[in-house]
Amino acid sequence: MSETIKTECFDEVPVRVVSGPGALESSKACLAGMGVTRALLVCGQSVGKLDAVREYVDACRGCIDITIFDEVEPDPSDATVRRGGAVGREAGAEAVIAVGGGSSMDAGKAIAAEIGEEGWVVAQDHPGEPTEIAHEPLPVICVPTTAGTASEVTPFAVMTYTETERKLVLSHEKLYARCAILDANLLVSAPRQVRVGAGMDALTHAIESYVSKQATTETRKRSAESIRGIAQHLRTVVGNPEDLNAQQGMQRAAMIAGLAFSKTRLGIVHAMALPLSALFHVPHGIANTILLPHGMRFNYTADPAGFAEIARLMGESVEGLPEEEAALRAVQAVERLATDIDAPRRMAEVGVEASAIPRMAEDAMPSAHVKVNPREITLADIMRVYERAM
Ligand SMILES: [Fe+2]
Repeated sequence: MSETIKTECFDEVPVRVVSGPGALESSKACLAGMGVTRALLVCGQSVGKLDAVREYVDACRGCIDITIFDEVEPDPSDATVRRGGAVGREAGAEAVIAVGGGSSMDAGKAIAAEIGEEGWVVAQDHPGEPTEIAHEPLPVICVPTTAGTASEVTPFAVMTYTETERKLVLSHEKLYARCAILDANLLVSAPRQVRVGAGMDALTHAIESYVSKQATTETRKRSAESIRGIAQHLRTVVGNPEDLNAQQGMQRAAMIAGLAFSKTRLGIVHAMALPLSALFHVPHGIANTILLPHGMRFNYTADPAGFAEIARLMGESVEGLPEEEAALRAVQAVERLATDIDAPRRMAEVGVEASAIPRMAEDAMPSAHVKVNPREITLADIMRVYERAM
């Protein structure tokens, strides 16, 4: 593993990425550079108890006053964001440090907007319409503790609205973090199932971005690098979390996929995954894990060359095969990976009821991901893909 801390800027996003072992330390300089003396640290309960987080808060004493809001749940709700906003306002926070997986980072970004305007998050519960932010949210530093969501480099925050039971993707330029801190030491303590879900979420990002209707040569370069990295490291990260070299490789691959899908959006799998979480509380990564092969089977004939390349990137030997057969190998490679890491494969395994399929299909259709999917999607198509995944 590289021993140096690296700072990078990428053309696609306005986020400074600081990476390397011990990079968490650098966030202090980042906050000081912004003139911040009071910050709100947003996380879930288990992350709030990590030694590394406690040591960090202690080390900040004297220069930055940190208030901890550790109430973020999986699939954070608008109510949590409202509470976090109130705590941040009360504390006089000038910045938000979001530490955790996608839920904590998404909540942190939304709380930074909610602190600036009470009631903002509730006003965004309008599916199919763009997110609005008229004010300036507080600056955010994202510190991921899983390698999956890439929220640290995307303008997205996924919100679950409890009253309407909707899970919506808020998207706005002002939801970018100012700085992302990639420290592989923070990934080691994540439970096995979290590593499986996060890794497969990242793979879904990379694959859906690669074949998105909005993909460009540049975004495909990024998603290709990500697919290769995930195929190389995910099995190791799941089997041996102490392998920091593999953890660092996965962390980078997940982040790079974020650079790509910030531009391209995703596709049928992400559109269909949201209702599984909103209605049955299936973790986002696990929902993608189950749906990815089914979504790929639906899509592969629409872009056989793209899927054949994905197969190649995943290490399949496709030389000399007819293109469609080579494309199908991408699906098989994903299925084999899912089997190797013992990932759940059926919606029934995670508590989804078949009777909910019509409602889930209705909820998936307005997703912006549907419009960029390589193959046109109808309501009946979504119902069929859900049925196959049942
Ligand atoms: Fe995702």
